[in-house]
Amino acid sequence: MLVIHTIAETREFLSKIRREGKSIGFVPTMGALHAGHLKLVQKCSEENDCVVVSIFVNPTQFNNPEDLKKYPRNLEADVEKLTSVSCDLIFAPSVEEMYPQPDQTRFDFGILDKVMEGQFRPGHFNGVGIVVRKLFEIVEPHRSYFGEKDFQQLAIIRNLVRLLQLPVEIVACPTVREPDGLAMSSRNERLNPDERAIAPSIYQALLKARDNYSWFTPDGISKMVTGEIEQTLGFDVEYASVVDTETLMPLSEWEDSDHAILCVAVFLGEVRLIDNMNLY
Ligand code: PAF
Repeated sequence: MLVIHTIAETREFLSKIRREGKSIGFVPTMGALHAGHLKLVQKCSEENDCVVVSIFVNPTQFNNPEDLKKYPRNLEADVEKLTSVSCDLIFAPSVEEMYPQPDQTRFDFGILDKVMEGQFRPGHFNGVGIVVRKLFEIVEPHRSYFGEKDFQQLAIIRNLVRLLQLPVEIVACPTVREPDGLAMSSRNERLNPDERAIAPSIYQALLKARDNYSWFTPDGISKMVTGEIEQTLGFDVEYASVVDTETLMPLSEWEDSDHAILCVAVFLGEVRLIDNMNLY
């Protein structure tokens, strides 16, 4: 497994792989790797000849400088974790390598970046678009793997690929959960033991919503799930939205959509967690 920090060396290594006719699979990450990331890498290695993982905490997607500062960084531990799976190349660039000058690109994602996360983290998805485009241009993967926990991000990246007509297949992978149901996230590391103990209530509330949604309107189920989560002391629900899985349009009636998903963002103390559940 190689660890490379520059774009030039990454391109050189991968052009050789491409000349050999091998397929390239890519898992972009911001490090702080957990079992959810390793599942993506595992799937990637089952479907491609060469596996590339990027580790880069991308400043342009943080609208809160404190959040960027606190984001966990430990390259050595991440490299160690990747030795347990099949990974050929880790691309771990510096901020200067990725952004020799500020990138002023503005994407038009339509409604996709206006709802939910977009409402509370302005500019976040534009920053994700900027870095994912750069990474795709450097790695030129045949396939790239993303977790469904970041459901809105997945919709944005699919849109980016369509918008820029990039020749990469986006592969969505199911959310990986702890045995108690908490969705795996790098942010879980920041929960104190008391917060960690109650964090699975989010998943419990989502399950209850999935099992009972037909008794409610979409707005009613949002209120029900907010009430369920906030009943447990320490939780503050930022949003609980029912949207169409393709367009991310918020639903007023169940008849507005063939496939609906309930997405939530929750503060547990200072830690912001997101999760979602397909309703039908
Ligand atoms: O999901 C993430 O970890 C990041 O948003 C991504 C896709 C690696 C871009 O920085």
